[in-house]
Amino acid sequence: MERSLIILKPDAVQRGLIGTIIGRLEQRGLKLIGMKLMQIDEELARKHYGEHEGKPFYSGLVSYITSGPVVVIAVAGANVIEVIRNTVGATNPAKAAPGTIRGDYAVSIGRNLIHASDKPESGEREVQNFFTDAELLQDFRRDTDRWIFEQ
Ligand code: RTP
Ligand code: MG
Repeated sequence: MERSLIILKPDAVQRGLIGTIIGRLEQRGLKLIGMKLMQIDEELARKHYGEHEGKPFYSGLVSYITSGPVVVIAVAGANVIEVIRNTVGATNPAKAAPGTIRGDYAVSIGRNLIHASDKPESGEREVQNFFTDAELLQDFRRDTDRWIFEQ
């Protein structure tokens, strides 16, 4: 079982795309185990994007992710990291395939609407950075799971 952190970035909230994007994730069959609206402060932004420190786009990235409210979502399930990354599309929306979230709703790399964890270890770390255990419904069972995951 993997866990992934999704962030609907400030542009997604400002553009009124929260429902549209969450709808796509739900339609894919993903199980959301935690969700909240929040504003990311600089300390949390630097922790979350620590791997990019020193890169030319880093300060713009921290400003962008702290620039307004975001929606953070935790997802659990088999293989969810790969499934979500494929649904989100390439980092640069100009290169993202149509049918992906970035490919359908975004055009700029610095306004690419959504974050998704890139490997299982990042998913674990990021979910723990953004949620307490009490905020996660870890054992929540959906009746539809057997129609979505071959068991
Ligand atoms: P994210 O972490 O936000 O889900 O995006 P990602 O894995 O697809 O891409 P990553 O390489 O982790 O980059 C993090 C965010 O930094 C911005 N970026 N700008 N100008 C550039 O060359 C550049 N490269 C990356 C993007 O906003 C990207 O989502
Ligand atoms: Mg990334």
